[in-house]
Amino acid sequence: MDSQLALVTGGSGGIGTQICTNFARRGFQVVAIELPELEQQTLAWQLNIKQLYNIDIAVEFADVSNFESCQAMAERVRSQFGDTSILVNAAGITRDSTLVKMEATQWDEVMRSNLDSIFNVTRQFIEPMVANGYGRIVNISSVNGGRGQFGQTNYCAAKAGVHGFTKALAQETAAKGVTVNTVSPGYVATPMVEKIREDILQSLVDKIPLKRLAKPEEIAHVVAFLVDDASAYITGANIDINGGLWMH
Ligand code: CAA
Repeated sequence: MDSQLALVTGGSGGIGTQICTNFARRGFQVVAIELPELEQQTLAWQLNIKQLYNIDIAVEFADVSNFESCQAMAERVRSQFGDTSILVNAAGITRDSTLVKMEATQWDEVMRSNLDSIFNVTRQFIEPMVANGYGRIVNISSVNGGRGQFGQTNYCAAKAGVHGFTKALAQETAAKGVTVNTVSPGYVATPMVEKIREDILQSLVDKIPLKRLAKPEEIAHVVAFLVDDASAYITGANIDINGGLWMH
């Protein structure tokens, strides 16, 4: 099935980029979804991937925190490329703060971008997947959705919700050939993690049994495993990739 269409939200991000290039190398037609305001940056990213690796990745734009924006994006994707068989919900943000200092906007932005987005995007593609009797959905959560993290009540709540969504949808679509799984990365070497204050980041890394951050390609590797045809019996699962930071 080398002509499968794969959509990756947050496609040009730290983890998203590795998922897109991994998929493209497997022969999938890949569409990276990014925010409309990041158009210039995303086009430059697209060109860079082409020049560096001779890989073609299509780009489309939507605000994943907005249902109508996702609906319009899905229409454009459908008319240009046809039905999507692989969806990776990788878009996400942090707005870290202790709860005593947290503004309502910090709560709302994180919930909308990290949790509402999963509904807003998946809702657009689920019907054709079910109708076609085939689909692979992978939602990117976080180790912190399971173990909690000082300064992230918003993010941990949203990321815990992602896996609840996964398990419910997995039950709804299991008999229709559509698998739904969660991948929960630990601390990955991406711009999101690199913006943590240096001393705090060091103390976090010290707690990781592997004593290093994950490489984004280590996350992409597991996502690719889950979307493989041969992974048909894995659904409703959460795969941890956290260097041993949280074992449960
Ligand atoms: N446990 C207990 N106490 C802690 C603590 C912890 N983990 N971290 C800090 N504290 C204490 C501090 O010692 C300090 O105590 P005092 O007031 O007695 O001095 C107090 O809490 C305030 O700490 P900060 O100085 O850190 O507070 P701040 O307001 O300046 O910063 C913060 C708050 C922005 C949340 C900061 O602590 C921080 O960045 N923490 C890391 C959060 C984090 O891990 N984010 C992950 C982002 S990447 C990601 O999310 C990807 C993924 O999926 C993993």
